[in-house]
Amino acid sequence: MLCCGSNVVALTTSSKESIAVFGSTGSIGTSTLDVLERNHERYEVAALTANTDVDTLFEQCLKYQPWFAAMGVPSAAAELARRLDQANSVTQVLEGPDALTQIAVNPEIAIVMAAIVGFAGLPPTLAAAQSGKRILLANKESMVVAGELLTRAAKQGGASIVPVDSEHNAIFQCLPESNRCSPDVGQQGGVSSLVLTASGGPFRQLSLEQMQSVSVDEALNHPNWSMGPKISVDSATMMNKGLEVIEASYLFNIDESLIEVVVHPESFIHSMVRYIDGSVLAQLGQADMRTPIAHALAWPDRIEAGVEPIDFIRLGSMHFEAPDHVRFPCLALAREALRMGDGAPGVLNAANEIAVQEFLDGRIRFIDIAKVNSHVLQQFEAAAPESVDDLFSMDQSAREFALDYIEHQAPKPVA
Ligand SMILES: NC(=O)c1ccc[n+]([C@@H]2O[C@H](COP(=O)([O-])OP(=O)(O)OC[C@H]3O[C@@H](n4cnc5c(N)ncnc54)[C@H](OP(=O)(O)O)[C@@H]3O)[C@@H](O)[C@H]2O)c1
Repeated sequence: MLCCGSNVVALTTSSKESIAVFGSTGSIGTSTLDVLERNHERYEVAALTANTDVDTLFEQCLKYQPWFAAMGVPSAAAELARRLDQANSVTQVLEGPDALTQIAVNPEIAIVMAAIVGFAGLPPTLAAAQSGKRILLANKESMVVAGELLTRAAKQGGASIVPVDSEHNAIFQCLPESNRCSPDVGQQGGVSSLVLTASGGPFRQLSLEQMQSVSVDEALNHPNWSMGPKISVDSATMMNKGLEVIEASYLFNIDESLIEVVVHPESFIHSMVRYIDGSVLAQLGQADMRTPIAHALAWPDRIEAGVEPIDFIRLGSMHFEAPDHVRFPCLALAREALRMGDGAPGVLNAANEIAVQEFLDGRIRFIDIAKVNSHVLQQFEAAAPESVDDLFSMDQSAREFALDYIEHQAPKPVA
């Protein structure tokens, strides 16, 4: 049945914790459903959402029987509703971006997994923050674009944000218990700095010259992690680590200068916290997102995630090196955006979303992603966004600015 927001009714009397999985058809979404299935006595899947992938969402609806399923694209929602009607499903289908926000504020939903990719994840995440949900934050872009707004909304709305990004989840686990939920690093608890680890991505050992001709498939082929296409490309450019520096700065209320980045190719240490007495606490685990997802879901409890333990004897050794800012300029761009403040992180994010999509579509080369990002960050004049509407119009204008640069100035890939 296809419903508009006003007819939405809740369908539960269960005592389980109810969860909405935003972006359920993606990499984080499917890992989340795997963890939920292993812990079905504790959680009830209340809502699932996707954008266009009707086939996957249809199968998920049959399996998990959520109260609601929402799709960003109305024609996809109509097709999903038709198939679910035929299957006599009780799931109500909602359509369009507003439906995502309606689900996020539904009072019968306690937990929101924010796993939509990109800026599109911001409205439901912000709505969940305003309405006091427990937010499991995978969608780093919403924290990058609207860090202050989102953390303020969560404080005012009584929401808690538990990071799912493996690095931030690791830091959350290593921070002192006293200030984990709204950590004020540097103020109390003896924390001196945060150390984000980075795998270095698939091109860690390539020269700049070799990077000129890398293909989309090579960029998507991450050595350790299996992820969606956008974050895979971000990992290859190391913009992902840059976005994570911004995310960590807002999430943990810490100056950019106190966030180190260390390349650790084995990806067993997910991140670390340094203390003023010389101690360093690290969180280790397999490169499997089900660990941080399970932690964020159940914290302060622990639940089964289906992840193999690390075999330290087989692992043998771990390595660390400094990031190379010449071959991977995106990391420095993110730090620069943080120092510029105001709307700069949002502008950089908008440019990067455009550049990554243009690369995936074969219209620019891999090395031009950083050029687009740098150009837009330096040249686009962003006023300080004072409202959500300001953020949206700034995002839109920065995207147009990036597209215009690509159209008129960026070199085209050789066919
Ligand atoms: N994957 C990881 O290991 C990982 C680790 C840390 C953080 N993250 C973060 O988690 C987020 C999700 O990453 P992912 O790798 O899971 O991405 P993904 O595999 O590409 O999945 C993205 C999900 O978002 C949905 N979506 C895309 N555009 C949308 C729109 N405009 N409106 C509504 N829904 C939309 C997709 O629906 P369709 O399938 O219908 O397109 C899909 O369900 C990203 O912010 C990423 O940075 C991911």
